Amino acid sequence: MKICVIGTGYVGLVSGACFADLGNVVWCVDKDNQKIEMLNNNQMPIFEPGLKEIVSSNYDAGRLIFTTNLGLAIKSSDIIFICVGTPTSKKKNSANLRHVFSVATTIRKNIDKYKIIVTKSTVPVSTGDKIEKIISKKVKRKLFQVVSNPEFLREGEALRDFRFPDRIVVGSNDKKASKKLKNLYEPLVKKGANFFITTRRGAELIKYASNAFLATKISYMNEIANLCEKTGVNVEEVAIGMGLDKRIGSRFLRAGTAYGGSCFPKDTKAITVIGDKYKTNLSIIKSVIKSNEKRKTLLMDKVKKILSNKIKNKKVAFLGVTFKPNTDDMRQSSSLKMIPFLQRKGAIIYYYDPSGEKKEFAKLKNVLFCRDISSVCKGVDLIIIHTEWEEFKALDFAKLSKRKKFKIYDMRNLYSPNLMKQKGFNYYSIGR
Ligand code: UGA
Repeated sequence: MKICVIGTGYVGLVSGACFADLGNVVWCVDKDNQKIEMLNNNQMPIFEPGLKEIVSSNYDAGRLIFTTNLGLAIKSSDIIFICVGTPTSKKKNSANLRHVFSVATTIRKNIDKYKIIVTKSTVPVSTGDKIEKIISKKVKRKLFQVVSNPEFLREGEALRDFRFPDRIVVGSNDKKASKKLKNLYEPLVKKGANFFITTRRGAELIKYASNAFLATKISYMNEIANLCEKTGVNVEEVAIGMGLDKRIGSRFLRAGTAYGGSCFPKDTKAITVIGDKYKTNLSIIKSVIKSNEKRKTLLMDKVKKILSNKIKNKKVAFLGVTFKPNTDDMRQSSSLKMIPFLQRKGAIIYYYDPSGEKKEFAKLKNVLFCRDISSVCKGVDLIIIHTEWEEFKALDFAKLSKRKKFKIYDMRNLYSPNLMKQKGFNYYSIGR
């Protein structure tokens, strides 16, 4: 099939490359000339394991085209995926749809034969109706269909999530269009992915409801972890005990830092605005947002306590600063709150992250990037394991810090409290 993917951000680039890998010809379009130039030179604008390889093999095979020429890409394709960003609006908490509507207007100008227009961007309920309205102002209804096909890719695991999805959701009010999408996804359906067809509005809501539910699951566990710390119970055991109930399921029950990333914080806010718009108070999700914000303060209080309220001149090492491993993404990472807080209180911060130095900390005095684990931990008072990168999972702490009384705050529960105690470390973790 001939496909046009608009937006070479996370969703667009991964989906475009994966569709090409399934044998389709994919035109990936972006208005950012520099990004397109990078991609044409086999440089990735984002960090995602395995992406470079799949982009380069499909590019070489002529199945992946990078261009800024949106008109030509639309004219050359049968299916057009809208994958542009829908960030939180500056004034309200709702999703900003400026890019989506601007793309819809360009699509309208370039439709010369039947096209299926698919929104993959996370968009509020009824956005598909609005896109349809924009296009039908100038184009005959029989020449196009607007379909919703939300993405459920996780950063760092995106290729695997595309190739082996739990489900593919297609929201369409037209049988011909859903059939065409079923054909496109057939190779994945054959491998066992569920293909679920629903209404367009239904699919739009499924995406928000899923992200908000996962955020709720995490926040719920984070609060249970707080209770575990007070009652001497191990939250990991509670999670296992709960997860064995198939109705609950064992995934996304890991207590840790506040949830971050570009999606959960943005989508939880946006769905509550959608609720308010339709006079439905989504009070559970509203309290999840509050609980997650509060968690950042709570974690800083814990650090204060670990350092016996004496933060000034203390040397603190951060292992990992991204919101999760296998990504360079800093968006809404709890380290963005914690590091400036400790710095303001007079601590000297050293940080190391496998994805490299971060511009977010560049201007902060006494916040220094180190190139490896041993330099970051040398002579510090406290080691904070902030992100669960693989390389932090089997550290020899005695070798890393010669200082006798250093402390460890493991915010991802990577180590066993009993073993750490046996080895004589001053070890703190989450909910244990
Ligand atoms: C999330 C969803 O998982 C994807 O399905 C969705 O497609 C994506 O948002 C999106 O809307 O684009 P992502 O933001 O990449 O994916 O990251 P997750 O792996 O879901 O993690 C989000 C946050 O939750 C991270 O801060 C992570 O550390 C935290 N988390 C996750 C926990 O604290 N505990 C867990 O058990 C799981």
